This record gives sequence, structure tokens and C-alpha cells, in this order.
Amino acid sequence: MDMRIVLIPGDGIGEEVMRSAVQVLDAVQKRRRLNFQYECALLGGCAIDAAGVPLPDETLHQCLDAEIILFGAAGGPKWDHVSPEKRPERALAKLRKEMDLFANLRPVRGRKALAPILPVKNRLIGDGIDLLIVRELTGGLYYGEPRGISTENGETRGYNTMVYTKAEVERVARTAFELAKERSGRLTSIDKANMLETSRLWRETTTQLADEYPDVKLDHLLIDAAALSLISHPSRFDVLVTGNIFGDILSDEAGALAGSLGMLPSASFGSGRGALYEPVHGTAPDIAGQDKANPIAMILSAAMMLRRSFGLRAEARAIEEAVDQALEDGYRTIDIAQKGMKTCGTQEMTDAILQRM
Ligand code: IPM
Ligand code: MN
Repeated sequence: MDMRIVLIPGDGIGEEVMRSAVQVLDAVQKRRRLNFQYECALLGGCAIDAAGVPLPDETLHQCLDAEIILFGAAGGPKWDHVSPEKRPERALAKLRKEMDLFANLRPVRGRKALAPILPVKNRLIGDGIDLLIVRELTGGLYYGEPRGISTENGETRGYNTMVYTKAEVERVARTAFELAKERSGRLTSIDKANMLETSRLWRETTTQLADEYPDVKLDHLLIDAAALSLISHPSRFDVLVTGNIFGDILSDEAGALAGSLGMLPSASFGSGRGALYEPVHGTAPDIAGQDKANPIAMILSAAMMLRRSFGLRAEARAIEEAVDQALEDGYRTIDIAQKGMKTCGTQEMTDAILQRM
């Protein structure tokens, strides 16, 4: 099997958490006598420094060719003043778009071991939180035209456009229905249909699609109500599907249910083999390079890659169980530590996971 993987650490803590993920992948490949072919590529601020652009052509071609990407994070204060089209974050958005990765899966688990640090009361957790956010990733407000900042008659305005075609809604909704069918059969579609036309089309389209999935129970929530329910009543959700900007916001909120953003992995797909795996967290410049970052989101993203792109289910499971075990055994990076608890660094957490695999 072709096992090419493009590794893109990116900026900030990207590099150190990528190092952790590669150690985990190496342990898997050694044990299973596999042969991952790693290729490294530049994207983000580091690419601006090295090549003058955040997404060099070489990186884009490598990604389109190898198809499977493991990505860290992009951005940082150093590049806050570059022009908007050249920002590191735009490079990531462009890569997602060029690879047509329209469905972004963000699983959220609230683990018992971390219950004491969660903002929601323990009784709400029950057997633990386990939900899946499906975020549309290549359309909506992030990409709509026109966009810009312009001045006319002395008045300066900034503008963006939220736009979805029916086909764009349908393909991501279909992905969500299929995933809901494999899980509990419950799907919540989230929009702002009381105000936005894009959302009205979104609601109409998901409702029509429900006819094709009689074993999935679809309901709809407005984004503001969903933001509240997610924190106050998380067990009402199983699979959520929503547009790009709403999904971006809700998934950070869901970080609180998992204990920290440092716990959330993600996987993005299109209609072909191409896939990009990345943690939901960003570059965390304040702690970069200090061995403080939580490597779990990145390691769990690598596990998602093994399962979904290479069919290595048992190996993915082994990594996920090792993460659970390390947490149960009390290993905590600073972002998930209770007050007074001993904390460990990125490498120590990685070692604890490796030992338990
Ligand atoms: C995410 C990030 C990105 C996004 C940024 C870095 C472009 O916040 O993956 O959630 O907004 O999609
Ligand atoms: Mn985000």
C-alpha cells in the first residue's frame, strides 16, 4: 500500500507536537513492519520566512500528489502584519480548498479522568461526552466573494460574503448523515435560518436529504441556542453538522467539554482519497518551544489518519487507549492539570503514551 504522508509542522507549537506524533507513528510502523514514507513540507509563517509566500507551489504540489497530510498549526504574532492574502492562516484555507476537503470531522470526548477540570458539572457528563462535529470546510463566509476593505466617499467598509450552493450543503450533509447512521442515528443541523438566507437553504437542503435516511433522526437548532446547549446540555447531541464559521466557533467551545483545545483532533475529507489531519488548536505562540504543549490532539489526529486513510483500525485504537491510560495514570500537561497537580511536558506525555501502546 502507498503510505506516503506529507508532514507539515507549520508554526508555533506545531513543530513540537508533530515530533510527538511522528514518534507514535514510528512505534506503530516498527511493531507492524510498515513503511511510512514521510515527506516534509513548509506552510505558514515559516514558509513566508523561507520562501516569501505562506503556501509555496512546491508544498501544494506535494500535498495534491501524496494526498495524505498531517498538519500542525499555522500563524503567529510575527506574521500579524503581513497583508491579508499572505497571512499564514490563508495558506491553510487555500490548501483545504485546493484539495477540496469539504468535510471536517471534529470528534469531542469528555473523559472521566478530566471531569474535575471541566466547566460543566460532573453529573452532566454521565458516561462521558462523546460527540462529533462535522464542519463544512471549503465554503461559506471564509471563501465568499466579494470580500475586502475599501473606502468610498470617505467611508471605509470591511465586507465578507456568506454563500453556499445547494450542492455544497448537500455533500457535507450527506457525510454527516452517513456518520450519524454509523453512530447513534441522531443528527443535529445548526444554522441561523431565522436571519440568514444561506441558512434557510441549508435547512431546506438538510431536511430534504433526511428522506433518504429514514434511520437517522434529524433536528435543527439555531447557532445561538446550539452554543448554549453544547455547554449546558451536551448529551443532547451526537452528530452535529454546520457551516464553516459556525463550526469553527462551536469546535473551540467544545474544547471546554474535552478539558482543553489541546485534546481535540480533526480529519478533513473530500470526495476522493485526499485527507488532511490536524489538531483543532492553533500555534499557541506563548508556550511554543518550551516543552509545555499538549501533544494529545496531534497524536489523536495521527490515529485518525491511521484508521481512515490506511485502514489501521487496531493501531488507531491502541493509540487512543494509550492516551486514555496515560490520563488515567495522572499524566497532565499544564492545559489539563487540576490545581495543585503535578504537570508534565510535551515529551514526558509522549513517552507516557508510547509506553502504554
Ligand atoms: C481551525 C482554525 C483555522 C480555521 C484557522 C487557523 C484558519 O481556527 O482549524 O479551526 O479558522 O479554520
Ligand atoms: Mn478554529
